[in-house]
Order: sequence, then structure tokens, then C-alpha cells
Amino acid sequence: MTLTLPGTEHSVRLARQCAGLTLPGVGCLPSVVADAEAVLSELAGNAIRHTASGGPHGEFSVEIWQKLRDGRAVVLVAVHDQGSAGCPVVRPVSESAEGGRGLLVVAGLAQRWGFTPAGTGCARIVWAELDAGHGHGCPAGDE
Ligand SMILES: Nc1ncnc2c1ncn2[C@@H]1O[C@H](COP(=O)(O)OP(=O)(O)O)[C@@H](O)[C@H]1O
Ligand SMILES: [Mg+2]
Repeated sequence: MTLTLPGTEHSVRLARQCAGLTLPGVGCLPSVVADAEAVLSELAGNAIRHTASGGPHGEFSVEIWQKLRDGRAVVLVAVHDQGSAGCPVVRPVSESAEGGRGLLVVAGLAQRWGFTPAGTGCARIVWAELDAGHGHGCPAGDE
């Protein structure tokens, strides 16, 4: 599924809820749903705090899908932002005493994560892949 939300703090909670509303219905274990919720919170928070998505008339999109990779089901969550000059980077704990260390959390919960340019300008998709915790894949909405 894909959902576009306004770039406000309130939307961070809505982004989180996207995982809670879709993934249990496609067989994901509750622990995986919780992990996906946490990851989406961090990625959505970053979109509004670190990119133009959080600026005037800004918005971001949440994408969630499930697919088979090497015979096991994986959940992919992604946030499509409106870009910034910088890049998502995991900061060592010592460098981010005041930060939420969100990408450190993402890197810990996800099997893989990354980012890719998307669309126009410096817009970007930041994505994370989690093991779905069951053996079959079925789409969480469109694939
Ligand atoms: N979507 C993004 N676009 C550009 N830069 C980003 C994005 N997400 C994160 N960053 C950069 O990566 C850094 C680390 O992010 P994070 O670990 O979530 O910590 P925090 O958000 O608390 O600064 C951010 O401070 C920011 O510089
Ligand atoms: Mg953050």
C-alpha cells in the first residue's frame, strides 16, 4: 500500500499506524508488526525533520509491501521524502548525544536498509527490509 501524508508531526503517528493496520492481515507476526511500526516512525520523523517534506506544503509517502526473497517472506517499508542536501547516515552514539539515533534503531531492527534517489530534485526513498516471520508471501496491498 502507498499513502501520502502531510509533512507534520501528526503524520508520524499515521505512518506508524499504516504498518499496524496492514501487516497483521497478511500474516506477519506481532513482533514484526511492532518492528515495522518503529521503523516507519523513525523514517517518517526523519522525512519531516531533515527534508523539505517538513517545510511549507511538504508531504511524504509511506509504502509497505511484502514479497518473497529466496523463498522467505520479507516486509519492505519505505518513506518517500522531498529531499535535502544531506543524506541519511547512521551516526555513532557519541556523535548524537541529543539525537534520537533513529537510524541506529532502524539498522538494528531491519535485515537491510538503504536509500535511493526518487523522482525530481533531491527527493529520496529511504527503505528498510524486515523478515516477515512466516514462510509465505502475499501482498500488503499493491506490489
Ligand atoms: N530522509 C533523510 N534525508 C536526509 N538526511 C537524513 C534523512 N534521514 C536522516 N538523515 C540524516 O541522518 C542523520 C541521522 O538520522 P537519525 O539517526 O534518525 O538521527 P536524528 O534524526 O535524531 O538526527 C540525521 O541527523 C540527518 O542528518
Ligand atoms: Mg531521526
